[in-house]
Amino acid sequence: MDMQFSLDQINQRAWNSRDASREFQRSKSWIDPGEKAAFEQIAEECRDQPLLDIGIGAGRTIPLMMQTSSDYTGIDYTAKLLEHARTRYPNLALHHMDARDMSGLPSDHFALTAFSCNGIDCVNYEDRVLILKEMFRVTRPGGVVWFSSHNRDGSGFQDSISNLMPRLTLNPLRFGWRTLRMLRTLPLASYNYARHARFHRNYEGYSIKTAAAHYFGILIVYTTLAEQRRQLESLGFVVEAVFGCGDGKRVYSDAQTSDASWLHFIARKPEQPVQ
Ligand SMILES: C[S@@+](CC[C@H](N)C(=O)[O-])C[C@H]1O[C@@H](n2cnc3c(N)ncnc32)[C@H](O)[C@@H]1O
Repeated sequence: MDMQFSLDQINQRAWNSRDASREFQRSKSWIDPGEKAAFEQIAEECRDQPLLDIGIGAGRTIPLMMQTSSDYTGIDYTAKLLEHARTRYPNLALHHMDARDMSGLPSDHFALTAFSCNGIDCVNYEDRVLILKEMFRVTRPGGVVWFSSHNRDGSGFQDSISNLMPRLTLNPLRFGWRTLRMLRTLPLASYNYARHARFHRNYEGYSIKTAAAHYFGILIVYTTLAEQRRQLESLGFVVEAVFGCGDGKRVYSDAQTSDASWLHFIARKPEQPVQ
């Protein structure tokens, strides 16, 4: 099967599910300490300047980013999730747009271009490059891009059906509750895992694998710190900082990333093109 087709087709099904709508409408804060730390690193320099938020889902990041600037634009290509965001924030510029083609947005304009919550992992690797090129184009010289991405060297990469088994506890009520929860989720999760495991692939620097979210309903790219740095630099960015999701601490080498299921990247578009 054509990988480009399958990644988008599978993930769009998950984004359009009732479960995704419920989950994305519920979450209202930072997803992890690394996301908060990364945003705090760039918030002041972006104060009152144009911000672009890609893959807004139901709008979790809108109030968080708007603490820094009311000059805010959000986009998403999943109409159903975008509608939730528009209902919550009817007066904002929220566009139905695919990040691979943001030709409706001006070049060299945004002080910050963000793609949060590992959204960039949901397209195939060639399309990830298209998205990063578009992020580069719309960001003003001297501005920053910020996104997160699943870490192939992190423990999350090992997620499998066995993660759903109830954790042991001496409290029989709690164990019963965990078992019931497992019995409710296991059929759909097992079905999805088996369906998506056919597409698992390993490449130099990245892999394609199903992730536990939405009952193993998504098929995503996991990359490494070294490969993501290389890719950003090859596109003309200067990588400025990387934060681990779990403790929000900066990471400097692959050796330090094993605790982080995903990483937050901040990269700058130089004032002048790098020669
Ligand atoms: C994991 S969800 C995160 C939603 C939201 N940012 C949050 O943190 O709650 C990823 C979002 O990215 C969107 N997305 C993925 N690929 C996209 C693309 N190529 N163009 C626009 N949006 C995309 C999906 O529709 C989905 O809403």
